[in-house]
Amino acid sequence: MSEQPVHLGDLSDLGDGQMRAFHDIGEFGVVVCRVGGQLFALDDNCSHREAKLSEGRLRGGLLVCPLHGAQFDVASGVPQGPPAITPVACHRIVEDADGAAVHVVG
Ligand code: FES
Repeated sequence: MSEQPVHLGDLSDLGDGQMRAFHDIGEFGVVVCRVGGQLFALDDNCSHREAKLSEGRLRGGLLVCPLHGAQFDVASGVPQGPPAITPVACHRIVEDADGAAVHVVG
């Protein structure tokens, strides 16, 4: 497995509590969330059924699935309540003066 950095550009306009989908990355696309000033990147696909997490809501550090309401910790991808029981994959993301880059394992 290799970790390929994918540059996302300048995400300084992504405010706290906001998220953005990048559809062309990885198998499912990636949703990037900003919480507490920090960026987090997860697969844009619920582990319960097929649903785009980027179409859900970001509540604090929890990403809420739009379909059945499972909540995932943005830092770990671990579900915090039913009906999902399997974590969503998280990806390392770095942000510096050149912008943000996500490292997707693939
Ligand atoms: S598809 Fe996400 S909770 Fe069911």
